[in-house]
This record gives sequence, structure tokens and C-alpha cells, in this order.
Amino acid sequence: MSEWTTIHTPVIAGNWKMHKGPVATREFFHAFRDAYPPHEDRTIVFFLPAISLTAGIEGLGDRADIDVGVQNIHWEPQGAFTGEISARMAWEAGARYTLVGHSERRHLFGETDEQCALKVRAALDAGLTPVLCVGETLHERRAGRVADVILRQLDAVAGVLPPDRIPRILLAYEPVWAIGTGVNATPEDASEAHGVLRDRLHDLVGDAAAAIPILYGGSVKVDNAAALLRAEGVDGLLVGGASLDPSGFADIAATPVAAA
Ligand code: PGA
Repeated sequence: MSEWTTIHTPVIAGNWKMHKGPVATREFFHAFRDAYPPHEDRTIVFFLPAISLTAGIEGLGDRADIDVGVQNIHWEPQGAFTGEISARMAWEAGARYTLVGHSERRHLFGETDEQCALKVRAALDAGLTPVLCVGETLHERRAGRVADVILRQLDAVAGVLPPDRIPRILLAYEPVWAIGTGVNATPEDASEAHGVLRDRLHDLVGDAAAAIPILYGGSVKVDNAAALLRAEGVDGLLVGGASLDPSGFADIAATPVAAA
């Protein structure tokens, strides 16, 4: 398997969801390349529709500082699964990352914790870096169940991985009530949830937990990106709607990082 991509934090990722086919993808990167000069101190990843991967890679040209990934994979390497793509296929097409368990997959397409676990394992087997998304609904938050839910989602995945593979994954805390709603979690809410996840990672892998990036996602915009990125325990951002505009996302991608 090929070498793993080096990940610098912060990781600032765009999730385009079902937006931008190949034509719009080329146009986007044409503009984004001008708007965002390379920064060595961070990792930028775009989760494109799989059909737009090749156009994205062509559009990026020599911009090796920017990676692309897919939004979903199947856990089997091949087979009679009409409409699905495997991790290996995504890798061959140039993806280096995949989202797993985004709340839209879990809630609109019925993806289970067990399926997410198999997908994370399949991604790692194929050399893709998985970004496992976890997060509670508003109902679960009001019932005081944030930690229960996000730990259940993490544990399901950790349970199928040998401990030495866990540090190869990234996490994204994405509270469901904050996704696409314009209501972001406060930096304090994000820090609290990230702390819960980090503690569990520490139980699982010890000191290696410190190096596992945990991104925040849910209504990240230019105006709140800096405050969220400064929040304790937040190692990056997963941006949906605001990643569709090249100049707006260039500003988010270039958010200054406070000196350590
Ligand atoms: P949003 O989406 O930024 O549009 O809220 C985030 C996501 O779904 O990853």
C-alpha cells in the first residue's frame, strides 16, 4: 500500500455533499487556486461527489497541498452492490480520504454504527484516511446524552480496529442540530464534546491519542471559523455549505492559527 499522507493540523475540509458535477468542480478549483495560496501549516481536503474526483484532481493541477476525498464508500472491495463504490476504487481515482458516518448518511440513508465500523476498516485497508463523523441530535442533547451517543459511535468503530490502526483515523464532531441550520455549536460546546472523544481515544491508544485530529463541523462560516478553530481541543473544521464558494472557503481555509 502506498505511503500515508502526512496530516498537518489544522485540517480544514470542505464537504460538498451533492453539489458540483465535473464542470462546476473545474470552475471552482480554477478560482480557488487563485484565492488560496499554499500554506504549509495545515491540511486542506475537499470531499467531492465521487463523479467529480477526476475533474477535481485536474482542476487542482500542481497544487499538491490540497487533497481530495469521497463522501462515502462501500465496505466490500467489489461485488453486486449497484450504485456503490469501494475504497479501492476511490483510491485509484485519486481520493486519499473518505468521510464515514456523516449524519446525512446515518439519518437519511439508515447507515448503522456497524456499517460505519466496516467502512472505516475498508478505508484503512485501501490506504484511504477515514474521517469518522459523530454527533448527537437535538433531542439527544436535550436529554443529556451527548457523551453517550458520540462514544457509542466511536466505540463501534474502535471495536473492529486493532489499537495500532486507530491513530490512522480522524474524527469529526458534527452535532446534527448544527448541520445546515445556521446554528453552530459554541466553542465551549465543541470543546466539551472534543474532550469526551479525546479522553476515550486516550483510553484506547494512550499518548497517541493526542495526535488524532478531531474536527468540528456544523454551520461553520467565515465569521465563526476563527473562534471555533481556537477552541480547546478543536484541530480543524469540516465545512458544508460554506465550502461551495471559492473565495469564501479560501478565507476559511486561510484562518490564522494562534501560535502554540
Ligand atoms: P454545514 O454542513 O457546514 O452546511 O452545516 C457541515 C457538514 O455537513 O459537514
